[in-house]
Amino acid sequence: MAQQALHHYSLPIYNVPVSSPSKSYGRIKLAVLICVVMFMLTTMILLRILRKITPTPSNSTKHADLFYESDEFLWNTKLEETNFELEKDVDYQELTISQWMPIKIEDCQSGMYKFSAPCLQNQDSNIEKGIELIYHSFKIKAPKFFNEKQKKIWMEQSRDSILMKWSPDNEWAIYPSINGQILVFNNVYIDPIVDSDEWSENNCVGQSNSHLKFLKTNPTPLQTYESVDSLIISTSPDSFSFQHFLDRVTVVWGQATLENSETAGRKSSILAGKEPTNQFVNEIYQIIAHNHFHKRAIYAKKVIYSCRSPLVHPFTTQRISNEILFQLNLSFDIPFKDRKKIVYFTRSNGDSQNGGRMILNEDAVLEHLKVELLKRNLNEELVTFDSRDFANLSEIVKFFANVKAIFGPHGAAFYNSRFAPRKLAVLEILPSGGFFYQGFWEQASLLEQTYGVYYAQMVNFDNDMIIKNIPQFVKYFLHLVDECQFRKPQDILQKYYHWQFTESS
Ligand SMILES: *[C@@H]1O[C@H](CO)[C@@H](O)[C@H](O)[C@H]1NC(C)=O
Ligand SMILES: *[C@@H]1O[C@H](CO)[C@@H](O)[C@H](O)[C@H]1NC(C)=O
Ligand SMILES: *[C@@H]1O[C@H](CO)[C@@H](O)[C@H](O)[C@H]1NC(C)=O
Repeated sequence: MAQQALHHYSLPIYNVPVSSPSKSYGRIKLAVLICVVMFMLTTMILLRILRKITPTPSNSTKHADLFYESDEFLWNTKLEETNFELEKDVDYQELTISQWMPIKIEDCQSGMYKFSAPCLQNQDSNIEKGIELIYHSFKIKAPKFFNEKQKKIWMEQSRDSILMKWSPDNEWAIYPSINGQILVFNNVYIDPIVDSDEWSENNCVGQSNSHLKFLKTNPTPLQTYESVDSLIISTSPDSFSFQHFLDRVTVVWGQATLENSETAGRKSSILAGKEPTNQFVNEIYQIIAHNHFHKRAIYAKKVIYSCRSPLVHPFTTQRISNEILFQLNLSFDIPFKDRKKIVYFTRSNGDSQNGGRMILNEDAVLEHLKVELLKRNLNEELVTFDSRDFANLSEIVKFFANVKAIFGPHGAAFYNSRFAPRKLAVLEILPSGGFFYQGFWEQASLLEQTYGVYYAQMVNFDNDMIIKNIPQFVKYFLHLVDECQFRKPQDILQKYYHWQFTESS
């Protein structure tokens, strides 16, 4: 169970093993080595060929076809039945983050759990302050599905989630209230934390992360320490990667900023794991931190320990998006209907880190979509996204300011919805055959974006896919885009409160 929560958001990342061949090998050893390598390579190539030519075992053709026949009633009626009034303020772009601020408790009160943050303060330790945070419960709208069969498969798998439960009508996922903690330590000597990139519950954000090493107020002999005033600990797994930097490091940072706006935020430095190589991660560090350190020995006058923070909550997700806009001095001010771009996240142009999950007939899909966009006559333009086209984060945000919809096969490119306006249609294509992922649905919904999910037919073990009925797929996608225009924020994300009454009664 705990493991599941930990991997809730985890996407596979490439790890390139580094070998260091020694020159002292004898000829025989070398020959044996070459033979072994040749054998392994041949086996790998054979396996790969075998995988490509073996079709995924599938059920009867009839069943498979039904899976790709749209039930148009599921998504085609609502817009016709409802007479939407397009209000002026429906298009507002500012996220109203203040309503998601957690409640703060700074005193240890009787009845509180003994490990609650204020109860961890102790005259004899260097813990200066402990703040217990209570994050409000909330609910997010279920995805927009293509048909009942696809809905059933996705919904069934989502029931294993330990973070939420479905409302009785299955229209809303309810996330219960959850606690967070901030602990502030004085005069801490931190020795290098070397194992923090491992996926362990003991690391930052993991359920059993420990603050005990920050009770250390004396240097280790012979160790040299970098000296900083204020430091946020954010040693969460794979913190160097674009995705896990966004879904963990920035969460811990966002919560830490609640401590004291004078000392947190950009005035504090951040300690994380392995040095990031992603340019956008480094840019965001510049936006949110005074400095960032990786596996270093540090002396900090003040440590803000904020590793006990919820993975999924509107506050932390919106906090970082707002900060990026604010610090880049950018805003989303093009109304939805005036935005031109419909963006496709391809996995066929070498921009993605892992192979697979390509839409093998994407050319035909894009061609058809282009024709349909022309028919709509709304000046919409289809663009294929390539992160390498952008010099910096500022350029990415400016690009997304003019985007009304994003779609493509499941992949890290969807993290870009963080840099997009909240009125945005997001369509994630998952391979059929049991693939389930809820992270991008949650991310989009927490940002009040309109999310849909479509299962495309998986055709090999690399999770490559084809879209079987292109006209229906395109129709469904454009309907999602249109629905997005009419949705209000509260159609997607709401506070949830157990006790219900109406003020008029
Ligand atoms: C095919 O799918 C149907 C309906 O889901 C199921 O009842 C049946 O057992 C499946 N057949 C095979 C061979 O998997
Ligand atoms: C931010 O943008 C506004 C409007 O575009 C401009 O007037 C202002 O000078 C900018 N501020 C900074 C600090 O760049
Ligand atoms: C981002 O890149 C553009 C284009 O190279 C450049 O004009 C701009 O100054 C850069 N902005 C920042 C904040 O670095």
